[in-house]
Amino acid sequence: MKLTQEQIATFQEEGYLFLPNVFTAEEMALLAGEMPGMFAQERPEVIREKDSKSPRSAFYVQTWNPVYEMVARHPRLVEPGMQLLGSDKLYMHQFKINAKAAFDGAVWQWHQDYATWFNDDDMPAPNAMNIALFLAEANEFNGPLMFIPKSHRLGRLEAKHDVTTTSYPLWTMDNETIARLVNEGGIVAPKGPPGSILLFHGNLVHASGCNLTPWSRWILYLSLNRCDNAIRRFKRPAWIANRDFTPIDMLPDDCLVEYARKRRSAA
Ligand code: SIN
Ligand code: MN
Repeated sequence: MKLTQEQIATFQEEGYLFLPNVFTAEEMALLAGEMPGMFAQERPEVIREKDSKSPRSAFYVQTWNPVYEMVARHPRLVEPGMQLLGSDKLYMHQFKINAKAAFDGAVWQWHQDYATWFNDDDMPAPNAMNIALFLAEANEFNGPLMFIPKSHRLGRLEAKHDVTTTSYPLWTMDNETIARLVNEGGIVAPKGPPGSILLFHGNLVHASGCNLTPWSRWILYLSLNRCDNAIRRFKRPAWIANRDFTPIDMLPDDCLVEYARKRRSAA
């Protein structure tokens, strides 16, 4: 799927681009159907919230679930990344589903992803980005992602390693800086149905609140990096910061529909 020049310009200007309904209801039913079974698994890649047994994230899912193996190579997700990062040689730095579980989903503190990629993984430059796919509706109540528009233009900002607030260590920003940035740029929280995608720059400042609603806010994140920008420190487990820099080989656009059709006829 190719982005238009106008969409590329919006991304460059704002630091993010929201595209509703990129995947069909049929494709999303296939993806959502895998979720309870994956989150129920006891394995290192499935991490729980700090104060409950609710799943927080499932990492590296493309290596242990055949449906997500296809999603990780889907042209509607990978091709826009190639355009925005200016290279057709991208690898998957990180691949995770954040559960933000009904009633239990905890916060993600204010941060820039490149701060963590730089400080933990020694990624040379901010030539990596996130493509988020909504696996469930994100609405104003269930802890949608919040962005400070245009904050990516400030480059990498100072951050501290927070290992206590949640079960996932993160390089986060202080309240004073966030207050100043919000005063200048405001906050947006793109919301929409499952199948929507949200592309955002590695230096865009973002966060999300907790989820007090009965609606889990499942979001899948592909963190794509240019192969010529591969990480140089292998401190985090490979299922959090991938060390296989093989370029992603895209699948046909109808791969999920075909898979669902074959599964139905085999049943
Ligand atoms: C992240 O910033 O990596 C996750 C934020 C969220 O899922 O709310
Ligand atoms: Mn992030």
